[in-house]
Amino acid sequence: MITALDHIAIAVPDLEKAIERFMTDFGLSFDGTEDVTSAKTKTAFFSLPPTHIELVHPLNGEGPIAKYLEKRPGGIHHLCFQTDDIDSDVARLQAKGYEFLSDGPMPGAHDARVIFIHPKSCDGVLIELSQPSESVS
Ligand code: CO
Repeated sequence: MITALDHIAIAVPDLEKAIERFMTDFGLSFDGTEDVTSAKTKTAFFSLPPTHIELVHPLNGEGPIAKYLEKRPGGIHHLCFQTDDIDSDVARLQAKGYEFLSDGPMPGAHDARVIFIHPKSCDGVLIELSQPSESVS
């Protein structure tokens, strides 16, 4: 079941500059950066209760965010819904005809299990489903 808006992700061409903006100009609480090697993405998270902002940037200059930034200067990249049972949500949505970007959930930031719904299944919006790891609540 989808239970919360986990985060909104913004693709940024200059991660340090964007971190500075969200921390200093907007005054958000910076939770740190994390490299998600499975997604070739460097992330930076900010708490904005009850949700978060995630900045996403290409890891080592390649991957899906690099491709995104080739076409645009930056922008809103995806929404992430938190779920308490990602496997049953994927099965339920697949049965309704939704397509996903991977065959099953993959490791995401904070050791969560994540999967992306194909934007063509959601009117052009990329939506991530994320089930937090048991050890982190
Ligand atoms: Co995300």
